[in-house]
Amino acid sequence: MQVKDIEPADEITTIEGLPATVGKDLHPMQQAWLDHDVSQCGYCQPGQIMAAVAKVKQAHAEGREITDADLDELRNICRCGTYSRIREAMKAGAEDM
Ligand code: FES
Repeated sequence: MQVKDIEPADEITTIEGLPATVGKDLHPMQQAWLDHDVSQCGYCQPGQIMAAVAKVKQAHAEGREITDADLDELRNICRCGTYSRIREAMKAGAEDM
């Protein structure tokens, strides 16, 4: 979905609102990010986490778990090069979603 496709009645979840979607202090994906010490400068991390959650939800909606092919589809840029930790955290976070 692109921003231009958002309708007035659509609900938007931000990184700050993500924990409320699971009724906890942290969403499982946020906890996985901490457990895997993913962040360096942190600039890209909210977008990385939101993309990871969306990708896992997409896979679950299709009745399956995420695969390496799903991880390869993520196009968020991290100038610090945290990609290997992102992949590990995403797999771990997906297990608790
Ligand atoms: Fe620095 Fe991703 S953690 S840009």
